[in-house]
Amino acid sequence: MAQHLDDERIREVRIDALAFGGDYNPDQWSEDVWLEDVRLMQEAGVTMVSLPIFSWPQLEPEPGVYDWSWLDRILDLLHDAGIRIDLATATATPPSWLLRAHPEMAPWDSDGHRLEFGSRQTYCPSSPIWRENVARMTRAIAERYGEHPCLAMWHISNEYGDHVSRCWCPESARHFRRWLQDRYGDLDGLNEAWGVNVWGQRYTSWEHIETPKKAPGPINPTKLLDFERFSSDAMLELFQVEIDVLREVTPDIAVTTNFMSMFRDLDYWRFAEREDVVTDDAYPDPMDPTSHVGAALNYGLMRALKGGRPWLLLESSASATSWRDVNVPKAPGKIRVESLQAVAHGSDAVMFFQWRQAKYGQEKFHSSMLGHRGERSRSFQETKALGLELKKLEPVRGSRVRSRVGLVVDWDSWWGSSAVESLPSQQLQWAQQARAWHRALYALGHPVDAVRVGGEASGTPFDRYDVIVAPNLYILEEEPAAALRAFVARGGTLVVGPFSGVVDSTEKVHDGGAPGPLRDLLGVEVDEQWPIADGALEHLSYGEDALAVPHWGEWIEADPDVEIRGAYATGELAGRPAVTRRAHAAGSAWYVSAMLRPEGLAAVFRDVLRTAGLPARDDDSVQAEAVTRSDGTTDYTFLLNHAADPVTFHLPMSGRDLITGSEVAGELTLGAYGVAVVASPRSEPIPFLTLAHTHRPTQATPSKELA
Ligand code: GAL
Repeated sequence: MAQHLDDERIREVRIDALAFGGDYNPDQWSEDVWLEDVRLMQEAGVTMVSLPIFSWPQLEPEPGVYDWSWLDRILDLLHDAGIRIDLATATATPPSWLLRAHPEMAPWDSDGHRLEFGSRQTYCPSSPIWRENVARMTRAIAERYGEHPCLAMWHISNEYGDHVSRCWCPESARHFRRWLQDRYGDLDGLNEAWGVNVWGQRYTSWEHIETPKKAPGPINPTKLLDFERFSSDAMLELFQVEIDVLREVTPDIAVTTNFMSMFRDLDYWRFAEREDVVTDDAYPDPMDPTSHVGAALNYGLMRALKGGRPWLLLESSASATSWRDVNVPKAPGKIRVESLQAVAHGSDAVMFFQWRQAKYGQEKFHSSMLGHRGERSRSFQETKALGLELKKLEPVRGSRVRSRVGLVVDWDSWWGSSAVESLPSQQLQWAQQARAWHRALYALGHPVDAVRVGGEASGTPFDRYDVIVAPNLYILEEEPAAALRAFVARGGTLVVGPFSGVVDSTEKVHDGGAPGPLRDLLGVEVDEQWPIADGALEHLSYGEDALAVPHWGEWIEADPDVEIRGAYATGELAGRPAVTRRAHAAGSAWYVSAMLRPEGLAAVFRDVLRTAGLPARDDDSVQAEAVTRSDGTTDYTFLLNHAADPVTFHLPMSGRDLITGSEVAGELTLGAYGVAVVASPRSEPIPFLTLAHTHRPTQATPSKELA
């Protein structure tokens, strides 16, 4: 596969405003509606729209016969209105004629069933026919519109893996074998890596290796893990097919593909390396009153994927979605606070799926900027107000989020702890652990950046952080472990969670057991993993507190110079170390061997932050957050109230609220879903906001209390 032509260069998106707008599907409407669309877009302050994402059949109705006329007309209309285009390569889904001519390009599920035409993404990522056609379509669009003055960037495909991220078809099996040959060289290498002497799994021919379909019992774990890696890489190759064409035809135009927040199936670190700008689609569930906490971690990943550069929120919903079992609308004001939360966390865009609510098809009940009632719809009134407000936030464009805490996001460990069937417990899962640990740090007042486990060598230097947490680093090799050691050696605080450093990248347990390459850094050895029966609860004592331990503990032995910060208090582990800290010159390395509930994690992380010299909020509410972006001279601190009850922040600085234009100092109270963005001279340390006091719930939230 050809490598991208110019690895180091990052192309800027061609737009000189915060991007505001949404997916636009003019081919679902008559041309007189387009005129109204453009008029209302201007009224709402729209600066960018994304199209023609799913329009391949409308652009190439028959093989080799193109109809660009409608796209020409709408692009010109949009351009005349000053609206920039996130121009899709229209390869998100194949036209029916292509699939009919080549049924072998359809994806198969794990039971060996072929998936049929009739929805979207009916393609196998490994299919040579699909790749060839994708390259052809991309070239056709790039050649036609590469010089169009409205072009802001290329939008490649759409949400890779949304419906089909793994394929078990014969073509995928052939591709999987090639991928394994590249990785292991010969069959001996593969047999060694997969540990085939267990259960008689030795392979004597490459042809015997299939995609891991249903088998009589648990499948070889290294095979499962490699299939996860392979599937992510197969999609990455498909992405690269389009990138190569676009780099050749339009070398100066930025490329992106829209991500799906913290998505298990694709290693976004590797995808982000190939593109110019990270874009994300975020759909926090309005039914979950704490969904903004998860969103904060997703955004912490998005900004980290390209080393802290601004990213773009390319899709979100103006109110309800239509793909959940129950699609709850957003309360008045929630669209605004959720959108501005993304901006707080480094997005230079607020965009929606979609501009105009569909009249037919699968997504007609999905909210849009312009609802079925047109400009009278609440979503239009609220998004329009937001679009106009965004103009006041122009100064934040390009600035970067300031954070002192990093959280290791590692797809290998994620896959290892979720694809593999034979583990000590299915209750300990990478994603849940990461979310639980992040929530504790969020409640204590810290925005958290994702970091890549290898640190500097893998493109996310650790030196900007005081604290790095690794909630569950199941797979760990020596090299990334060395990066973590170096971080501690230069004064950093590292916190490692349970079931870490267990296996190497071929899923072999490290000599001497966990925590493997972190043994000396942490000063502990795990004698046995100690899952706790479902429904049972153990405790550990932490200072004065008794912290509940559900699901998971470990029998650990600690070196004499290791401080025992918390010890198990009940069950077979009673009296044994549970939470440890080893000091290393200026730094320290903690090991938290248990799964803990939110109160327990708050207690441990409060202790961690205190010993690391970082502030912490003394309440543990997740209702409100403060995040600071900075352009080097000015700090922009976003204060966000995610609930209907008012909240009061104590400000360590004074400044001007960009939204109201007023000078603020001392205390600032935000009403229901309120937001302020305070501009103040850049300060060291990062402004840290505490909640001055909490308010009694207002009448506005009875439903929450009932729930
Ligand atoms: C996204 C997708 C859009 C639309 C949206 C609805 O996953 O990219 O095309 O389907 O969801 O929420």
